[in-house]
Amino acid sequence: ISLSVNPDGGNASSPLLYGFMFEDINHSGDGGIHGQLLQNNGFQGDSPNLTAYAAVGDVSLAVDFDNPLTSAITRSLRIDVPSNTTGQVGFSNEGYWGIPVDGTTYTSYFFMKGNYSGDITIKLVGTTSGVEYGKSTLKVTSGDKFSEFNTSFPTTRAPDGDVLYTLTFDGAQAAGDSLWFDLVMLYPTTYKNRYNGLKTQIVDALNGVKGSFLRFPGGNNLEGASPSNRWKWNETVGPLEDRPGRQGDWSYPNTDALGLDEYFYWCEDMGLEPVLGVWAGFSLDSGGGTPITGDALQPYIDDILNELEYILGDSSSQYGAWRVANIGRTEPWPLTMVEIGNEDNLGGGCASYPERFQRFHDAIKEEYPQLRIIASTSNSTCLPDPLPEGIWTDYHNYNTPENFYDEFNFFDNVDRSFPYFVGEYSRWEIDWPNMQGSVSEAIWMLGMERNSDVVKMAAYAPTLNLVNSTQWTPDLIAFNQDPTDGVFLTTSYYVQQLFSTNRGDTIKEVTSDSAFGPVFWCASSKGSTYYVKLANYGQDTQSLDVTVPGTTTATLTYVANDDPSAYNSDEQHPVSPVTKSLAGNGTFAFTLPAWAVAVLAAQ
Ligand code: AHR
Repeated sequence: ISLSVNPDGGNASSPLLYGFMFEDINHSGDGGIHGQLLQNNGFQGDSPNLTAYAAVGDVSLAVDFDNPLTSAITRSLRIDVPSNTTGQVGFSNEGYWGIPVDGTTYTSYFFMKGNYSGDITIKLVGTTSGVEYGKSTLKVTSGDKFSEFNTSFPTTRAPDGDVLYTLTFDGAQAAGDSLWFDLVMLYPTTYKNRYNGLKTQIVDALNGVKGSFLRFPGGNNLEGASPSNRWKWNETVGPLEDRPGRQGDWSYPNTDALGLDEYFYWCEDMGLEPVLGVWAGFSLDSGGGTPITGDALQPYIDDILNELEYILGDSSSQYGAWRVANIGRTEPWPLTMVEIGNEDNLGGGCASYPERFQRFHDAIKEEYPQLRIIASTSNSTCLPDPLPEGIWTDYHNYNTPENFYDEFNFFDNVDRSFPYFVGEYSRWEIDWPNMQGSVSEAIWMLGMERNSDVVKMAAYAPTLNLVNSTQWTPDLIAFNQDPTDGVFLTTSYYVQQLFSTNRGDTIKEVTSDSAFGPVFWCASSKGSTYYVKLANYGQDTQSLDVTVPGTTTATLTYVANDDPSAYNSDEQHPVSPVTKSLAGNGTFAFTLPAWAVAVLAAQ
């Protein structure tokens, strides 16, 4: 196959093209990228129980509904201490299927009440080994109201995630009494050392992709099973003890400690453009009273205007002042893009979306004309006619490899007046991304990249998966709680990384002696560097000559495997990027392996 890149001309490509979609699914947030390591610390969700806790010593534990910490955290942990107790007693928490102890300074916070004056000892200990990886003892005096305590302590790196958090006290001091604990938290040193921040190991994996944007907070998890269960922005800000959490849409309680401000810190710290999804009158359960239309929708529109004031307002505004009070930030968050709803083409949302979209759109644009509004579907039957100016539309594509192959040219002839945000896509219905699926995603991505005048942004989804709690597969990055080897980069991760870290700003014309398939390509340039992205969807190796006039050296980086079903997982890692240097005088000859995704970078 001979390809020749035309150095002249070309179309501008979207600078935002590759980025991330995030919602709390697969414990991607709680137990995942969020730094708080103890599970069930506020007994939130629909069925509070003692998940993750066990008694230490001869005491009994109960979830107490009569001794709330606050009006938001309405349950606490009661420890009944028998009258003849001696020695250290208390409770353990096993975290989210383990606790990663990475050798940094850890901080534990907890609320406590009950008559006690004495030492509290916190330890991080190997569950089976009994080895201690961190310990702190602090003196406390508590009474009949909850008081907050915290302690920071050094740790040594644990060999795996098989670690328990224990909090114990002197049983003799509390004998015959009860003590209450709530919102017990444990953080490692977080990414950029932020209070209530993110877990470095997972941020590092995301940073490896060099994405451009973050869409949050969903996805289905924005929508709720019913309106009262939706993601409510105002319950995810402020002190953690004022955040009630909610029963998330993916079968587990969300603490919402990763809340609205934390998402914006995440964007700021990783250099990502925020794409805020707002609830638009539609929940997942059609029996839950949605879609909401007519006059009944107005309070929800007002609520989103309040949310936007919280994000964008200054301290003279009611909600801007609340942001300043909560996090001390006087400047607004740099929000430019708002998506109205999620997948409103599905589940009975379509017929009412023209009305709902238009009303949210008009209300937001009136207050914030600078914001880019994104519709949650590109299905024109679910959208107002005519569509307001300046709209981008979200198109989701979970698909088979064969269909991704066939849809390479999907964007070639679409109406260019309403650009696309491909807010979610991936090869679907397998456990782990595999080589065939990842090559097919690359074909779809090549189709988007060469049309990136009209495809503005695209995100693989879902992004993260704690292997012990999987609600959706495949996912881009999997992880467990091993602090050293606990992040598993999939074949699709490497494809995202290859495409995102090798971005031009101009899409170049390519002429060829061959038709597309099984090899697909797209070329771009930035300054004097040319990128030729390639996918080989087939069992045969392919010989290529790529001519880029004026260049003399190139590197070829690829991921490949002869076996289309090859996959990286928590147990094996057969696929990693390979890089080769190529010499040539404007023409580079090389072999593309079977089932491969490659980037030739020539200068
Ligand atoms: O990515 C998983 C789910 O797929 C998202 O929550 C939803 O938007 C889509 O249906």
